[in-house]
Amino acid sequence: MAEHLEVSQGSKKEKYELLLKQIGLQIENEKDTIAVMANVASMIHETFGYLWTGFYLVKGDCLVLGPFQGPLACTRIKYGKGVCGTAWKEGRDIVVDDVDKFPGHIACSSKSKSEIVVPIKRGEEICGVIDIDSEKIAAFDETDLIFLREITDAISDTFNPSESNSF
Ligand code: SME
Repeated sequence: MAEHLEVSQGSKKEKYELLLKQIGLQIENEKDTIAVMANVASMIHETFGYLWTGFYLVKGDCLVLGPFQGPLACTRIKYGKGVCGTAWKEGRDIVVDDVDKFPGHIACSSKSKSEIVVPIKRGEEICGVIDIDSEKIAAFDETDLIFLREITDAISDTFNPSESNSF
């Protein structure tokens, strides 16, 4: 398979639609979760040019840094801490228009202005989150939520429960 990413020049929705097709192909060809996450982080990052795009994976009482693209990031986030730990604890997506207004936000980069976090669920269990940071205020909206949920659903199918906690 050619390792070439096609990026739509159209709307955000059109960009996501083309991205999702290509993520589908990745998953068809590769079942290793970390390998899939690594390419998905790269594909989202290249498509939209965000500041930081990556994954945190549940390990014990922490989220531990997974594959990502962008500046150096904190490696561990406790349950209920920051935007990621809150999304994990509350089992919900979180869109933050202005990170300075989110109590307890963990600033890995002072350039980050807005953020979206979508949990990766296997049934009721949360096994990780996708986290994206933008240098622009209020960069994320309903379109991001809809497509990032589709992306996390597709990725969760590659999780092997017998291998959880052993990434
Ligand atoms: N801002 C996140 C921490 C992770 S970095 O953004 C990569 C948070 O508050 O959980």
